Amino acid sequence: MTPSDVKATLSFSDGSPSIDLPLYKGSIGPDVIDIRKLYGQTGKFTYDPGFLSTASCASTITYIDGDKGELLYRGYPIEQLAQQCDFLEVCYLLIYGELPNTEQRTTFTKTITYHTMVNEQMQFFLRGFRRDAHPMAVLTGLVGALSAFYHDSTDVQNARHREIAAHRLIAKMPTLVAMAYKYGMGQPYMYPRNDLSYSANFMRMMFATPCEDYKPNDVLVRAIDRIFILHADHEQNASTSTVRLCGSSGTNPFAAIAAGVACLWGPAHGGANEACLNMLEDIQRMGGVEKIGEFVKQVKDKNSSVKLMGFGHRVYKNYDPRAKLMRETCHEVLGALGLGNDPLFKLAMALEKIALEDDYFVSRKLYPNVDYYSGIVQRAIGVPVSLFTAVFALARTVGWIAQLNEMIGDPEYKIGRPRQLFVGSARRDVKPVAQR
Ligand code: ACO
Repeated sequence: MTPSDVKATLSFSDGSPSIDLPLYKGSIGPDVIDIRKLYGQTGKFTYDPGFLSTASCASTITYIDGDKGELLYRGYPIEQLAQQCDFLEVCYLLIYGELPNTEQRTTFTKTITYHTMVNEQMQFFLRGFRRDAHPMAVLTGLVGALSAFYHDSTDVQNARHREIAAHRLIAKMPTLVAMAYKYGMGQPYMYPRNDLSYSANFMRMMFATPCEDYKPNDVLVRAIDRIFILHADHEQNASTSTVRLCGSSGTNPFAAIAAGVACLWGPAHGGANEACLNMLEDIQRMGGVEKIGEFVKQVKDKNSSVKLMGFGHRVYKNYDPRAKLMRETCHEVLGALGLGNDPLFKLAMALEKIALEDDYFVSRKLYPNVDYYSGIVQRAIGVPVSLFTAVFALARTVGWIAQLNEMIGDPEYKIGRPRQLFVGSARRDVKPVAQR
């Protein structure tokens, strides 16, 4: 961290002595005020529920400029990565810090490919779930269970263990997501195939059956690969912070990633793509494009809890760059499948246009986020709505593991332990039950 020449001075209106707080400069983005010694020097905590103004760590992985609508992985713009790299190259970049050269790419792809099978016993573990369980419930269990199957890579203090766990997680997530899907469908699991690319292999495990040959469609494989790239990391969001906090206790990487999966499930985070598609389907049932005005009115009504899902973001106060790329992919996929007139896509575009012109959304800087179009793409590919967040979890796993490894390797890392502003009862005595 680079110290700044500037210092922040904190003064108090009650005459308590003021203190100087050091500032650090990032390579880009806002400076931070170092408050680590604040409690020791003043006996006071800072109060920031939701981390609106708090940097929880220093990181070199992902940078977002929310006002510009810019997303960089290790300095590379998401647009260039989405157009020029495949998902495994992006995984390599996130984990190791640089894009791979030809030899590194080949070796890494081979390593991941040869870790895609899961322990056969996982099938029996999966069978304990009800067939109608939500895939995210199943995935949370399966990922957590990996620590029970792969004991030789659970020492988080051992860099080689962490690397093997990273490879295993990236490799096995598609297999687990496809297994969760097949289980819900009552179909046999399809084993991974080492002659296919990462994304083609995922599609085959999802959509093939043992009854006939399956050839993944190139346009759809590219679309899935792009979904993976766009969701691979997003700095210190809720699930990533969960993984870091969980991992800060020294727990094993599989357990920490399972915590991330659980956090991602929520509709304000990864569950938004599922919620967005459900919302579009509801509007379609109500009467489609004609009913957009009525729906938008509900969204703007402070007494209703209706939100325009797929819109708004804690950090982006501009168009989410991933949403633009996803919109492009949406056109490609619907074109390739002859679904150019898909009513849901038309509805999404009409709703987006109206929202972008409406003062409610404009004044609050609410723009489409990545989830707005990713649901339509996944639905067109044949991914069921209930599996959308599991696909997101698959893609985000590399980000989670890269962030976890960065934290463990950081000499300043400590167990995460936020403090609180206590507003409950002061000390009081327990009365006998008859007097309460
Ligand atoms: N629809 C309607 N109003 C909204 C929406 C929305 N989608 N998002 C924010 N607002 C309004 C809020 O009601 C608030 O209005 P107010 O100032 O009149 O009270 C204002 O905009 C600011 O919103 P906050 O909730 O303070 O913003 P915050 O940063 O806390 O929330 C969030 C961000 C959770 C993403 C929110 O925009 C939201 O719920 N969006 C819909 C869910 C969604 O798409 N989530 C995906 C996020 S991206 C991802 O995880 C990949």
